Amino acid sequence: MIIGVPKEIKNNENRVGVTPAGVTELVRNGHTVYVQATAGEGSGFVDAEYEAAGATILPSIEEVYGIADMIVKVKEPIESEYNLVKDNQLLFTYFHFASHEPLTTAMIERNAVCLAYETVERADRSLPLLVPMSEVAGRMAVQQGAKYLEKPLKGRGILLGGVPGVRPAKVLILGGGVVGTNAAKIAAGMGADVTIMDTNLARLRYLDDIMPANVNTLMSNEYNVRQLLPTHDLIIGAVLIPGAKAPRLITRDMLKDMRPGTVLVDVAVDQGGCIETCKPTTHENPTFIIDDVVHYCVANMPGAVPYTSTQALTNATMPYVLMVANKGWKQACADNAELKKGLNVVNGKVVYAGVAEAFNLPYTPVEEVL
Ligand SMILES: NC(=O)c1ccc[n+]([C@@H]2O[C@H](COP(=O)([O-])OP(=O)(O)OC[C@H]3O[C@@H](n4cnc5c(N)ncnc54)[C@H](O)[C@@H]3O)[C@@H](O)[C@H]2O)c1
Repeated sequence: MIIGVPKEIKNNENRVGVTPAGVTELVRNGHTVYVQATAGEGSGFVDAEYEAAGATILPSIEEVYGIADMIVKVKEPIESEYNLVKDNQLLFTYFHFASHEPLTTAMIERNAVCLAYETVERADRSLPLLVPMSEVAGRMAVQQGAKYLEKPLKGRGILLGGVPGVRPAKVLILGGGVVGTNAAKIAAGMGADVTIMDTNLARLRYLDDIMPANVNTLMSNEYNVRQLLPTHDLIIGAVLIPGAKAPRLITRDMLKDMRPGTVLVDVAVDQGGCIETCKPTTHENPTFIIDDVVHYCVANMPGAVPYTSTQALTNATMPYVLMVANKGWKQACADNAELKKGLNVVNGKVVYAGVAEAFNLPYTPVEEVL
């Protein structure tokens, strides 16, 4: 198969869909890979590394789309890319169709085959191509939180780990899933006094077993949240109810219970946020202050660490990319139920129920296109 790797052109996106290690694997399996010039630069991979791995560098995005059977990238195509998509071309990337009608319409009109990273799903309902970004965001939430707790950045001026003779900071993590667990590990490693709250008792039992002694677990309910707010320095929002908006666990009136300089990092902001006063921010302008409380609500946190994020993402995507390249999308999706769930739009038909529902479009069961 001919595989094309375009350079991401969405604002501030520095990740890339395939690394030189991925090219090596694809070439070893008999495939041909074309990479757009400088596509990997933002993630630390120069063109020469791709060439050494066996790829051919093409100067323009038009040439990459023009030659490839399958496009592997990171973000959904943006408007200027819509017309580059060829009839029947396979695109394997994040799409998030349900929140973007023009993109859905464009892919239907282009007669593309769209495999979406975010809906590839295991039998246990976990989302293997979203997990790596949650791992990055969870770890980064503590790094950012620690930074914004510094006085010059309007925080309380407390060191996360304290020092001998001085108590460490208190970190409250709302939601003990992938983001919350990764945040807890890093906060605990830095010596903070950490509490994780979740509504899932089985999950709390598990976390209690595996976490170090400076991490406590607590049932998530409004009473317990209110009890902890006045004494905690860094609060990380990491809840998710699949397919729904995030529940509001911290409401505007609760800000007055927090001390000035408390830092809120709402990682769940991409699902509407679990802190009422959080609105999406960008890496250029990541924080704002309400009632002396610092709010950090960047919707694409992994974008700030593309070296790590690209490798984390491609570690997870490459086995699927190889499967599709080796068998073709139809056979690969027929053989692999996880991958089949990734099909969203196929040759003009919407085959993912949530996307059809979102825009009142006709829905075609995926089996009919295989
Ligand atoms: N901002 C970013 O850059 C970024 C990056 C990655 C993920 N995210 C977002 O982070 C959020 C968390 O993702 P995840 O992968 O950890 O999800 P996850 O499903 O692994 O974990 C979510 C946890 O929230 C818990 N939960 C649900 N309701 C709760 C409540 N009322 N109180 C406490 N806990 C509750 C669940 O039991 C679960 O353990 C999602 O909204 C995801 O989209 C954001």
